[in-house]
Amino acid sequence: MTKRLLTGLKPTGEHMHIGNYFGMQIPQMIQYQNSGEYDVFLFLANMHSLTALHDADKVRQYSINALKLYIACGLDPEKTLIYNQAMIPAHAQLTWVLQCLTNMGTAERMHAYKDSINKGKAGEISVGVFTYPILMAADILLYDADVVPVGKDQKQHVEYARDIAEKFNKTFGETFKLPEPKIEETVAVVPGIDWRKMSKSYNNYIGLMDDEKTVLKKVKVIPTDEKGIDDPKNPDESQLYQIMKLFLNEEEDKKIRADFENGGRGYGSLKEELHERIVAFLKPIQERYNELTDEDISSILKKSTPKAAVIAQKKVDEVFQKVWFYL
Ligand code: ADP
Ligand code: TRP
Repeated sequence: MTKRLLTGLKPTGEHMHIGNYFGMQIPQMIQYQNSGEYDVFLFLANMHSLTALHDADKVRQYSINALKLYIACGLDPEKTLIYNQAMIPAHAQLTWVLQCLTNMGTAERMHAYKDSINKGKAGEISVGVFTYPILMAADILLYDADVVPVGKDQKQHVEYARDIAEKFNKTFGETFKLPEPKIEETVAVVPGIDWRKMSKSYNNYIGLMDDEKTVLKKVKVIPTDEKGIDDPKNPDESQLYQIMKLFLNEEEDKKIRADFENGGRGYGSLKEELHERIVAFLKPIQERYNELTDEDISSILKKSTPKAAVIAQKKVDEVFQKVWFYL
């Protein structure tokens, strides 16, 4: 049977940035959907957005925008199953069962909650922020996902999904497949335009919908060292190179590394090239995005969500049968 690759997309408001794009391994997902190596499942994680956002109009618009962007990037709804989490009751149903199998200690170790404690904000976050890794485990386990492509910060959650699946299987009998996080080491952490990881919360990102001028402004502030044009430079210590290499094929990479190492090319010229490369990469995505309508997205979700619901409901039936027997 073809292996299943699954990921969730949380509509947050900001458009995806290049850290999300590469960290979530969108290029690989597109390749898998086209080669058929994996069955690709992509769902709108709108139940997750409720942890932070309490405005239905915004959730709707952000969800539509996010899906437009994924499709503009090349995810094809004819090949990838794209569905709406909140329309499938099985997600909430399985979450409850998994919550009852999860110890407080385990939930307290999840980093989103721990971060709030460290910032002294535990009293202000919703219970949803505390339990969202459990919903995420349900998202994964309902569909027998084999692999879950995520950035490093989500690895802990996929490992928890695996542990809780094992616990359920041991307690109630073999039910869930054990998922594997899939992390692409070369892009595990895409740096931002300062020294930190690229993140919407640090406002140090290059967005997929940024226009040419905005990209230029951002590329200009990427920090570099004091080395002059003729000085040899170490690409592996250069943040500029770390970002540039995302847009290079093997041959281009060799050439840029040589430009760094041999000297003779300054940071100004390298930044110009990075700007051109990013703009060339973004242009077709933005054009496709602008052609898609809100109705296109609604009709994709309406068509595909029932297909996902059948798979998820089957799993929940099996779980319910095992935990309390249907009478
Ligand atoms: P942000 O840090 O901008 O808030 P999210 O937490 O919404 O991003 O992450 C969405 C997805 O993108 C996750 O799978 C996460 O691991 C990935 N991701 C986010 N930022 C980066 C980055 N700088 N490098 C690699 N992956 C990232
Ligand atoms: N929690 C993920 C994020 O913040 C989104 C997500 C929800 C997800 N459920 C998932 C990702 C299941 C992968 C698999 O980005």
